[in-house]
Parts: sequence; C-alpha cells; structure tokens
Amino acid sequence: MIILWSGVCVSLKMLILVYAAETDLRPNIVIIMADDMGWGDIGANWPETVDTPNIDSLAREGLRLTDFHAGASVCTPSRAALLTGRLGLRTGLTKNFGPDSLGGIPTNETTIAEILSSAGYRTAMLGKWHLGTRPGHHPLDKGFHSYLGVPYSVDMGCADPPGMNFPLCPGCPEDNSVYHCASALSNCIMDPALPLYSNRSIAHQPVKLADLATMYAEFASNFIRSTSSVPYFLYAALSHMHVPLAHGHRYDNVTRRGEYADTLRELDGLVASILSAVKQTNNNTLFWFTTDNGPWEEKCGLSGSVGPFIGMWQASPMGGGGGAVAKKTIWEAGHRVPSIIYWPEHTEAGTVSNALTSSLDILPTLAMLAGVKIPGDRYFDGVDMTSVITGSAHSIREVLFHPHSGNGKEGEIGAVRIGSYKVVYYTGGVPDCFGHSGPAQSHADSPLVFKLDVDPSESSPLEHNSSEYVVATELARMALRSLQDSIRADNTSTVDYSRSHDGWVCCNKNSPICRCPWD
Ligand SMILES: *[C@@H]1O[C@H](CO)[C@@H](O)[C@H](O)[C@H]1NC(C)=O
Ligand SMILES: *[C@@H]1O[C@H](CO)[C@@H](O)[C@H](O)[C@H]1NC(C)=O
Ligand SMILES: *[C@@H]1O[C@H](CO)[C@@H](O)[C@H](O)[C@H]1NC(C)=O
Ligand SMILES: *[C@@H]1O[C@H](CO)[C@@H](O)[C@H](O)[C@H]1NC(C)=O
Ligand SMILES: *[C@@H]1O[C@H](CO)[C@@H](O)[C@H](O)[C@H]1NC(C)=O
Ligand SMILES: *[C@@H]1O[C@H](CO)[C@@H](O)[C@H](O)[C@H]1NC(C)=O
Repeated sequence: MIILWSGVCVSLKMLILVYAAETDLRPNIVIIMADDMGWGDIGANWPETVDTPNIDSLAREGLRLTDFHAGASVCTPSRAALLTGRLGLRTGLTKNFGPDSLGGIPTNETTIAEILSSAGYRTAMLGKWHLGTRPGHHPLDKGFHSYLGVPYSVDMGCADPPGMNFPLCPGCPEDNSVYHCASALSNCIMDPALPLYSNRSIAHQPVKLADLATMYAEFASNFIRSTSSVPYFLYAALSHMHVPLAHGHRYDNVTRRGEYADTLRELDGLVASILSAVKQTNNNTLFWFTTDNGPWEEKCGLSGSVGPFIGMWQASPMGGGGGAVAKKTIWEAGHRVPSIIYWPEHTEAGTVSNALTSSLDILPTLAMLAGVKIPGDRYFDGVDMTSVITGSAHSIREVLFHPHSGNGKEGEIGAVRIGSYKVVYYTGGVPDCFGHSGPAQSHADSPLVFKLDVDPSESSPLEHNSSEYVVATELARMALRSLQDSIRADNTSTVDYSRSHDGWVCCNKNSPICRCPWD
C-alpha cells in the first residue's frame, strides 16, 4: 500500500491491478445517502428521535461527524457534489432536473465511480440518481457497473399505491383516459409513472414504492456477497425520507406515531440489512451513512427533524419574517446533515468529530484510500479527510462554501463558513409548511454573521461594530474572492437544463403513463 500511496508515476493503474490480483488491502466502500432526512432524524444526533436504533448503534461502533455538510441543499447539486467533489459553480449542476429534463451530469465531469472503477474496483449503484436520464447520463455511463433504482425523485411521477404526500397524490390511473382529465390533483399525474431501472432497462413503470426497500436490500446484499478478488464500491442513494412516503406492510403503524416515524424505521432496517451483509463478508469496509439535504418543510408532518438547527433569525418576525430554514436554504438545517462512518480498526468506536467536513470531501478521500490520484486538470472543492476518519486530525479546513439552492439564487454562494463563524448573504424566499416564505433578501452589503458554536439556532447575528464581525466578514470576502479566481481559472462545465417531452422516460410509448410490464 505504501508504495502505491507514494504515487510512483509509472502506470499506477497497472500496478494496482497486479497488486489487486495478489491480496488487495484496499477497503471496500459503501456510501449510503438518504433523501431529505434531517440532522435530527437520527437518535445519535438528537435523542428525541427514537426510530433509528440501528443507525445509532452504527454511531456507537464508529465515528459520528457533527459538522458535516452536503454540497448543496437540494437533490441534484448535492448528489453531483458528492460524486464529483466539485461545487455546482464548476460542474454547472446548480439546481434540480425535472423528469423531462434533456441534460444531465456533463460527460467530462468525472465521478468517484469512474475513478474507483479505473482503479480496479467493482462498482454498483442503487436508488435515486437525479443526474439525467438521456443517453450518456445514465449511472452506467458514469462509472457504475450495475444499477437498480429510480432516475429522479419519487414524487416525479405517479406510483402504485401513491404513498403519503402533502397534498395527497392519487395512484396511477388504470385507465389512460383519466390521464387527460386535469383535476385539482393533476400535478401528481402529469408526468409518466415513476420507473424503476435495472441497469439500462425499465423493470417496472410504475414502481411499487412500498417494495423499494426490500428490492434495494436484496440488490445490495447480492452485490456485497458476490465473491471477487477486487474490492467494491456501492453507492446506495435511498429513496427514503422523500415524499411520497411509503414502506412495506411489515412497518405499518409499527411506531404508532405516524407515517414519517414508520418510514424512518424502515430506512433504519434497510441500513442494518446492508451493514449486516458487509459484516458477514469482509470487515475491511468503509461504511459511510449520510443524507443529501435537510427536511422539506413544505411537507409539514411528512418532513423530518432539524434537531437544534431551527434557523431562528429567519423564523422571527424581527429577522427574516418566516419561511423555510432547511431544504433549499442556506440555514444549517438545509445543508448540515447526519454523517456516520464505520470502518473497524480504522475508526475508533463511539468517537465524535466536530471537524468542518463536507460530502465534497468524499471523492478525494476515497481516491486516496484506493491509491489513485484525482484528475489533475481541474480544481476540487473537497479535500482528503482520511486523517479525520482515522482520528489523527481534528480539523482539515477553516473555510466552506454553502451554495444557495432556492429563491432564484441557485448555485450562488449564499453563506461562507469561517471556522465557527457563518457569514450569510442571502435569506428568505423559500416556503415553509404554512406556505409562508419570508421575503428573499440580499445581505451582500452587510452580511449576517452567526457564531455557530454558541448559537447553533442562528438566532442572533453579531453586531456590525464588533471586532469579530469585522474579521469574519473580511475573511469571508477574501475566501470568496479566491474561490472566484479559482473558478475563473478552472475547467468548468455547463449543463443543459432545458425540458421537453422528449426527456420523458417511458417503457411503453402507447400509454401516456407508461404502464408496464403488463401482467
Ligand atoms: C447489470 O450489468 C452488470 C454488468 O454487466 C451485470 O453484472 C448485472 O447482472 C446486470 N444486472 C441486471 C439486473 O441485469
Ligand atoms: C395505529 O395505531 C394507533 C394506536 O393503536 C391507532 O389509533 C391507529 O388507528 C393506527 N393507525 C393505523 C393507520 O392503523
Ligand atoms: C466482522 O466483525 C464482526 C464483529 O467483530 C464479526 O462478528 C464478524 O465475524 C466479522 N466478519 C468477518 C467476515 O470477519
Ligand atoms: C484544463 O484542461 C486543459 C486540457 O485538458 C489542461 O491543459 C489544463 O491544465 C486544465 N486547467 C486546469 C486549471 O486544470
Ligand atoms: C455596537 O452597537 C450596539 C448597538 O448599536 C451598541 O449597543 C454597542 O455599544 C456598540 N458596541 C461597540 C463596541 O461600539
Ligand atoms: C468539459 O467540456 C467543456 C466543453 O468542451 C469544457 O468547457 C469544460 O472545461 C470541460 N470540463 C472539464 C472538467 O474538463
């Protein structure tokens, strides 16, 4: 390993492949990313939550990161940041794709799956992709050898049964004529039914949401258990906890506290089942659980817990005047996400790290562990955080950028972390459960500064005349300027966000909702 890591430049790939055929000491890697799950949805983070016994025990056996952030606060850019190690300002992936989008992840943006597969890893993905559906943008085009999952969010097309949403969705019509009868509920059935891909073919359309967890568990287990002399990489992008919420019958009313709690139990069980396949086969496996962004508050009781990150300034009439403080925003509950790493003999059981870290760091970290270099023809926003994982460092960075993911400012840097200070430039404009969204405001001329170590609820901005304010805003200004310089000098990509019915995924062109296979 040491020889590999020192990076001798003679065909590193050949060396790895030869080495791998002997005994491969490189770890297997499992990244699990849940959808729209709150920082407070995990008991290990927030004791009020009692529905994640297995994830909590994972935290007791591994390392819990308390200050870990998604690369954006909505789906597409967050997933892109994880897979590429780069901010949306570089990859062009700054906002969500729709089910009829023509574009996808740019072909010359390199994913961690491409890097690991070129280093000899077996790779697989399950779950939500949301980085394009057209040819060239499929997971199998971006480094994954096998795939089972849905191409975008589970609310982007009807399903049988419909699952719990707010407002409620109807199930897919059996009769195609219904499709053309626009009704108050028509939003839910304007798009073709939700498809389930198995590699490049559509296995079901509509998918049965209630069966997804079982199918994903089986796919993961088969992949993990298949024998091979090379290590593997599994990226499991779970559909839970995004609306419409659905779970197998086994979880019906198990908590007696409603659909969200029951679905969270199923997610916890799915994580446990993937972990058990890992433990039974090979313990040299880095198992990493995280989520893409915080709760979708517009969905009211069907959205998760923000924990202590209640975004009080935004919520207050004296501050932002109400509106969302989680998904789509730059507030902590939007981008600070659960992150737990289990890697026996490398992470110490039951440790907690407050290092400022990000899902942008996943690509550089995994490349390091696989003994490969990251591409040299572009800049990365993530950094290798192996030292934090193994406990040999308490910090890897002082500065982290949080892009906005709503209110028309998608991709723009809405807040900058400088140590424990958070400098905020844009607030408001994102609806909460009551449909309120405080006015979208720019604070570019006099940003708000919160001191997160003493004010995690972001309630009281520092006085503008305090020396802390002056130092934090000046450091943030310099950090932003150097980010802009690096983006200007970088190879950046552009993304086609146009939408047309040509983008629709349909296994049966004769049916508007694409019901198939027929049975
Ligand atoms: C997907 O493709 C891979 C690689 O060819 C193959 O091993 C796997 O069995 C395929 N999966 C399905 C469900 O066809
Ligand atoms: C769930 O259990 C509670 C408490 O026993 C009961 O009141 C409720 O009707 C049940 N709900 C469903 C959907 O079965
Ligand atoms: C992995 O570790 C667990 C817990 O120590 C142990 O029960 C299991 O047998 C180990 N698995 C393998 C494949 O060695
Ligand atoms: C951009 O790509 C070109 C061509 O691959 C390469 O020569 C150049 O060094 C790259 N720029 C950066 C900043 O890496
Ligand atoms: C800063 O301004 C606040 C409110 O305007 C005032 O109460 C405080 O005394 C000032 N502090 C300094 C250090 O000037
Ligand atoms: C990808 O290709 C586009 C168009 O050729 C180019 O502008 C961009 O810099 C490339 N990105 C990278 C990361 O090389």
